[in-house]
Amino acid sequence: MSGIKVMSVFGTRPEAIKMAPLVKELRRREDLESLCCVTAQHREMLDSVLDIFQIIPDYDLNIMEPGQTLSTITTKCLLGLEKVFQSAKPDLVLVHGDTSTAFSAALAAFYSKIPVGHVEAGLRTHDRYSPFPEEMNRTLVGDLAELHFSPTVANKENLCREGIEKGIYLTGNTVIDAMATTVRTDFRFSTEGLNHIDYENQKVIVVTCHRRENYGQPMEDIMSALAYIAKTYPGVELVYPVHLSPVVQEVARRHLEGIGNIHLIPPVDVEEMHNLMARCYMVMTDSGGLQEEAPALGKPVLVMRKETERPEAVAAGTVKLAGVEYDRIVALAEEVIMDREVYDTMAHAVNPYGDGKACERIADAIEYRFGLREQLPEEFVPG
Ligand code: UD1
Ligand code: UDP
Repeated sequence: MSGIKVMSVFGTRPEAIKMAPLVKELRRREDLESLCCVTAQHREMLDSVLDIFQIIPDYDLNIMEPGQTLSTITTKCLLGLEKVFQSAKPDLVLVHGDTSTAFSAALAAFYSKIPVGHVEAGLRTHDRYSPFPEEMNRTLVGDLAELHFSPTVANKENLCREGIEKGIYLTGNTVIDAMATTVRTDFRFSTEGLNHIDYENQKVIVVTCHRRENYGQPMEDIMSALAYIAKTYPGVELVYPVHLSPVVQEVARRHLEGIGNIHLIPPVDVEEMHNLMARCYMVMTDSGGLQEEAPALGKPVLVMRKETERPEAVAAGTVKLAGVEYDRIVALAEEVIMDREVYDTMAHAVNPYGDGKACERIADAIEYRFGLREQLPEEFVPG
């Protein structure tokens, strides 16, 4: 085994889903030693991903507490990671995306003078309060990192505009790599109720909603709009795996519980989620990851946010930005439900985010950085 230790640090569900195939790819490289540290900013939702991808972390900070604030997450991560880095002495720390775990891990690595590689680098809305705190988190990670793995050309250009000149690799998004192992036509759901939904004859809408900037009035409006859509269109069935955040649980249950064609269910595992999306009619969400996954599956998406850092699928016509106001969410949903032409225009598979080789490119770039390889990886070119 070589002396080059690469430690992947992550803490939430989406980071785990997008880092899992990379952890596996790094393990396959004989010249790298792959270590994995979870902060467990999420607990159950993280463990579900670790189980599916069969990853046993080398370190687990177990920081989650109910109703945690951004400061508690950040301070617990910083203090915990300082000790982990002192003991493991990694040569490179990999972080993912824009969570508080990602920011704290990049900062902790910087304090320990360990270079940082940023996976999913360069996504921007250019509004520091939206998404909050993610836009600031990823911008700060961009400053702290030495290697930047950008999914798309637009992401790379955002970094160049910020004066980052070196270390940017255009790789595609690792979520597309993850989907290669999860989506199957003969998939059977372990959440038994999902096997009994009539995906052929009902218009099944998959819903998720959790963003902090949507807490309060925007989330009230989103939930009211979903209730209206379900009550008005009996041919529609909403399947909504509700995020475990107590704030989200309360508002979702208050608006949507007891409506016959709404299935409020606990979070499902990532295999179930990807296969649910593969079978559904459309997706309504404020999630980042779903905006990348659903277009790859040819499913129309209404994004219930004011902005998006993922403009590629909007440009391709698969995603529409619905905003967070009741009237517009209802109007756009009605259009996709009722107007076949609108539906058909949106429902085509596009893959602006990756080709399934992002992890290979990232591992190659790391080997290049440490002089273990002479050639730079080829850049991702969207098909
Ligand atoms: C976090 C990320 C957000 C990401 C989201 C993915 C930050 C600031 N936010 O937001 O970028 O989109 O994760 O889901 O990093 N909880 C549980 N069990 C779990 C997970 C969460 O009980 O497995 C509850 C806890 O009460 C926790 C709360 O959810 O306090 C909120 O979790 P937190 O990580 O603080 O924020 P998210 O909104 O999940
Ligand atoms: N997801 C999941 N189970 C669920 C809901 C979502 O596995 O019940 C997956 C989804 O497919 C995507 C990721 O979780 O890969 C998105 O996570 P989330 O929406 O929590 O965070 P974001 O992407 O907005 O940061």
